[in-house]
Amino acid sequence: MRLCIIGTGYVGLVTGACFAEVGHTVVCVDADAKKVALLRSGGIPIYEPGLEEVVRRNVASGRLSFTGSTAEGVAASEVVFIAVPTPPQADGSVDMSYIEAVAREVAASLTAYRIIVDKSTVPVKTGEKVTETIKRYCPAGVDFDVVSNPEFLREGFAVADLMKPDRIVVGVGSPRPVAAMRELYAPFDAPVIVTDTNSAELIKHAANSFLALKISYANALSVICDAAGANIQEVTRGMGLDNRIGTRFLNAGLGFGGSCFPKDLSAFIHISEQLGYDFRLLKEVQQINADQMVRFVKKIHDTLWVLKDKRIGVLGLAFKQNTDDVRTSPAIDLCQRLAKEGAHLRVSDPQAMEKAKALLPPSAAMEYVDDMDAVAEGCDALVIATEWPQFTQLDLARAKRSMRTPIIFDGRNLFDPAEMKRLGFIYKSVGR
Ligand code: UDX
Repeated sequence: MRLCIIGTGYVGLVTGACFAEVGHTVVCVDADAKKVALLRSGGIPIYEPGLEEVVRRNVASGRLSFTGSTAEGVAASEVVFIAVPTPPQADGSVDMSYIEAVAREVAASLTAYRIIVDKSTVPVKTGEKVTETIKRYCPAGVDFDVVSNPEFLREGFAVADLMKPDRIVVGVGSPRPVAAMRELYAPFDAPVIVTDTNSAELIKHAANSFLALKISYANALSVICDAAGANIQEVTRGMGLDNRIGTRFLNAGLGFGGSCFPKDLSAFIHISEQLGYDFRLLKEVQQINADQMVRFVKKIHDTLWVLKDKRIGVLGLAFKQNTDDVRTSPAIDLCQRLAKEGAHLRVSDPQAMEKAKALLPPSAAMEYVDDMDAVAEGCDALVIATEWPQFTQLDLARAKRSMRTPIIFDGRNLFDPAEMKRLGFIYKSVGR
C-alpha cells in the first residue's frame, strides 16, 4: 500500500520505517527542512536501537522517502498518518495545535478519498474534532475517513515493539476504512481490535495510565518494604507470578519519567475532569511518583548529611535504558536537586550525555565522564539513576578503591544488597 506519515518524531519515523520494512511504500513528511535533509542523507535524528539499519535499507530499496510537502505526501498515498507531537500544557491539558494545523493542511491537500489515521496520543473525542476540521477545510465533494490507531511502542524497543505488537487498535467511524486498515497490518501477525474512535483513543490513555499505576503501586509497596525490612523485588516477583498480575512494570525505583507516562496521566486526568469525573486514583499515582524522588533524596541526606561540596558520581541521565532521551528524566531531576544543594557531580550515560548537556550545562561542578568505571573516582558517593543493564557490569572493586567513601545509592535496584555488603559498600537501594 502507499502511505504517508506526517511527523518524523519517534512514533512517525519508526512507524514509517517499519511499514516500509514489511513492503509498503512510505513517504514521511516533516516541516523541519534540516530533519528532512538529514534523513535523506541516511542519518537519523534519534538514538533508537535497530532503527538506522531499517531506515537505510528501505531508503535504498526506494520504499521509504522523505519530503517537506504535505500535499506531495497526501497525493501519493492511500492512507495518511498524523504523527505530530501533542505536548502538555501548564494546566495538564494537551496542546492540540499541531494536530489541528496538520488536519487543515491535509484537508487542503485532498483531491480524492483518503483514510486519515491519527497515530499521535490524543484525548478521547479528538477523532471527532479532526473529522469536523477536515470537513470544514477540504474541497467540496471530497470524501475521507478518520481512523484512530494509537501506537504503543516504547522508546529503546521501538522497532521490536512495532514489528511484533501485542495488538493493533483501529477505531473507526464507518465500516469503509476497515478492510484497508486490515490489509495495512496484515504483515504484522497481531490481533486487530476494530472499535469506535472514542474507545480507541481511550484505550491508549487507559493502558498507559494503568502501566504508570503498576509502577506507582510497586513504589508505594517499596516504602512499606523499607519500613518493615522486607524486599520489594521478592514481593513483586511473588505477586507478579500470578498471571492475572504479571511481573512486568513492577520495578520500584526513582519513579517513571519520559515523554509519555507523565504527560498522558495529566492529560487523562484533565480530560476526565472535563467529562465530569475526578480521577483521584490517577492523581495518587502522580503523587506517589513525585514522593518517590523526594524519599530517595532524603536517603542520600540521611547518609551524607550535608551535600554542599560533596563529590557525587551519577550513573544514568536518560529517563530509562536504551535511549538518549532525557525528557522528564528522573535522573536529570535528581542531578538538578543534588546540584542545587552545592554537590559537585560527575555524570555519565551510555547514550544521553549530549542531550543532557542542554539541561545540566557542563561546568567545574558538573563533569561529564565518558568511562563509567571512572565516574566514582574521588567521590563521596555513587548514585545509580537509570536502569541501563551495562551498569551491572561496573568495576565495583575499582570504584571502591577510587572513592573517598564507598557509598552507593542505587535508585534502580541493579545490585544485590548482600553482595554489596560483602564488597564493603554502604549500599542503599529502594525497598530492600
Ligand atoms: C511508554 C509505554 O510503555 C508505551 O507503550 C507507550 O507507547 C509510550 O509510553 P516509554 O515512555 O518509552 O513507553 O517507556 P517505558 O519503558 O514504558 O518506561 C517509562 C518510565 O517508567 C521510565 O522512566 C522507566 O524507568 C519507568 N519504569 C518502567 C519503572 O520505573 N518501573 C518499571 O517497572 C517500568
